[in-house]
Amino acid sequence: MTDHSRMCAFFQLEDVSMLRKIVLALAFMMPVMANAQVPQLREDNVDEVLKAMTLHEKARLVVGTGWGSMFGVGLLNADPVEVRGAAGMTRSVKRLGVPSVVMADGPAGLRIMPGRSKRYCTGFPVGTLLACSWDTALVQEVGAAMGQEVLEYGVDIILAPGMNLMRNPLCGRNFEYYSEDPLLTGKIAAAMIRGIQSQGVGTSAKHFAANSQETNRTGNNAIVEEDVLRALYLKGFEIAVREAQPWTIMSSYNKLNGPYTQEDKWLLTDVLRDEWGFEGLVMTDWTSPRNTPAQIAAGNDLMEPGFKKQINQIVKAVKNGELDEALLDVCAKRVLELVVKTPRFHGYQYSNQPDLKSHAEVSRRAAADGMVLLENRSALPLQGVKKVALLGVGSYDIIAGGTGSGNVNKPYVVNLMDGLKNAGIAVDEGAAADYLKYISHNSNRKKGYVMVGKAAWKEKAVPVAQIKSLAMNNDAAVITIIRQAGEGEDRSVNDDFCLDETELALIGDVCREFHAVGKKVTVVLNIGGVVETASWKLLPDAILVAWGCGQEGGNAIADVLTGAVNPSGRLSMTFPLAYEDVPSSANFPIGKKEVIKDVMSTATGASKDKGRKDVDYTVYEEGMNVGYRYFGLDGAKVSYPFGYGLSYTTFSKEELEDGSVIVTNTGARSGREVVMRFENGILSAFAKTRLLAPGESETLKF
Ligand code: BGC
Repeated sequence: MTDHSRMCAFFQLEDVSMLRKIVLALAFMMPVMANAQVPQLREDNVDEVLKAMTLHEKARLVVGTGWGSMFGVGLLNADPVEVRGAAGMTRSVKRLGVPSVVMADGPAGLRIMPGRSKRYCTGFPVGTLLACSWDTALVQEVGAAMGQEVLEYGVDIILAPGMNLMRNPLCGRNFEYYSEDPLLTGKIAAAMIRGIQSQGVGTSAKHFAANSQETNRTGNNAIVEEDVLRALYLKGFEIAVREAQPWTIMSSYNKLNGPYTQEDKWLLTDVLRDEWGFEGLVMTDWTSPRNTPAQIAAGNDLMEPGFKKQINQIVKAVKNGELDEALLDVCAKRVLELVVKTPRFHGYQYSNQPDLKSHAEVSRRAAADGMVLLENRSALPLQGVKKVALLGVGSYDIIAGGTGSGNVNKPYVVNLMDGLKNAGIAVDEGAAADYLKYISHNSNRKKGYVMVGKAAWKEKAVPVAQIKSLAMNNDAAVITIIRQAGEGEDRSVNDDFCLDETELALIGDVCREFHAVGKKVTVVLNIGGVVETASWKLLPDAILVAWGCGQEGGNAIADVLTGAVNPSGRLSMTFPLAYEDVPSSANFPIGKKEVIKDVMSTATGASKDKGRKDVDYTVYEEGMNVGYRYFGLDGAKVSYPFGYGLSYTTFSKEELEDGSVIVTNTGARSGREVVMRFENGILSAFAKTRLLAPGESETLKF
């Protein structure tokens, strides 16, 4: 090769690589140049951005990024996971400046993975406890605290509140829900939504609608008369929508009178939007692909957790005329409208440091406010009690909340032993040592399916000789009875609704031996749902329902036992004498055979309809006969009626002509009172006083 040709070859080489550089640079700049022509999402140009989107982009936008974020990993073609343990994300459209937004559970506080950075969230009391406070201001305060954690941990929407009506006491998720009454449900939900959304983050009121059982929840067809549906199962949602406009609503897993709720235009568009004026977005509950075009057509805007396959289904359906592109546009627009509201869109720099300390205080105060005193024969508040025999496994490992998506990864849980000690009450060290040893063995846990969280303990038998000695050496006894529940599984009558033999023996033996030496016994019900009480409630001197009381539970129970807080919770549901008394028991699944199937169907698609009563379909034959609407309010036919709850003080009430009520504390201790209004036996309004000192009055307006 001559020098010249060598030179030419060199230049050619250089040219090629130069060319490549230019091409690359151009390719790199193309999107930028393109972006200069296409709009970038702003709060005020949603329509313009929508117009600039391709069919494929719109289809992507209405399909979430998949299961990956929940496990803290990004899946192929999905946006990178932003918050570990979040339940889902929307897809970004970078070309148009549309970021993805992050969603995480749940009703008792934000559920994300703490990881090595220890991103714990406050475990607030469960929804049922909050409703039993009848205190909308308090619930709003809890919501604001939750919302601050949502914001500061980089989440945009919390998948809460859970607000299905408590149709039957055995529903496995009742602890997440509020009440058997739709007005109380709706008012408490509205307060929660207002509180959370006051922090600039969104909510997802769920599960819309008639998701009243966990058994075969992804296949079950709830068959409900329309008037019953509207008056009971939809009413709470209607109130929450009209009063608080949640950013989103989650359509349920089940079918309702035929179609899946997620494919039901009547429900999601005609009723929810056209009648009630819902302005937000509807997302599916976390399920594998169903009939995606039908979901879009019904007004179900976002598919969660989202599968790539669904994007193709949508594109195909539009192309072959099966789905009108205008309907897709409606859903895509709602996603954009949601995106522009979020902190992520506004570039909020979250701190990962919410105010956990002050939220723990809110959690404790709320917990004590919603506990319900069922019995008290001069046992409470504890007086002159320096040392208690603390019995029941739950005393040493209380149930702060439920399992599944209702679980929260909280920094700690205060058990009752520590709660009492913090309040200056000693516990019997021998009994404590036995229990602590017992709970060091996981094998003492109940068996069964648990999605996220831990199964409860089996109760431990205590020999009568030991109880006799405890009665001699302690001033009083406190027994905690626990129940655990969670999604994917309904409760059973035996050993769950009803106390088991060991629990009954413990209560019976302790009451007999302590009473024999003139000492009092209190039973604390640390439960997620209603249990049978009629057969044993006269044995102990006091019964306190502590519900799933959050991470400060032990302190809050001690607050009530010692009288630092005067109980002011009232039941948001009826405690029947027997399960069989509940009208819906004729149409509710008992038994757990279908449970595993349901777990599988959640992951793989709906289960096959085999026409099984109460499994594949459930007829709400009881109609309006839910809770006190059937049992009444006077307590004659039940163990404890709706609205029931004792106080350490007494109140008088004077009705004024304008409908307001003067409530006066006529007792010797400060306390709060709930006033309920009923019209034709149906709750029509309620209000709660502030803390009234003895002799003090407050006028409540409705
Ligand atoms: C639950 C929802 C929850 C979702 C995401 C589903 O299994 O039913 O309540 O928000 O999972 O975790």
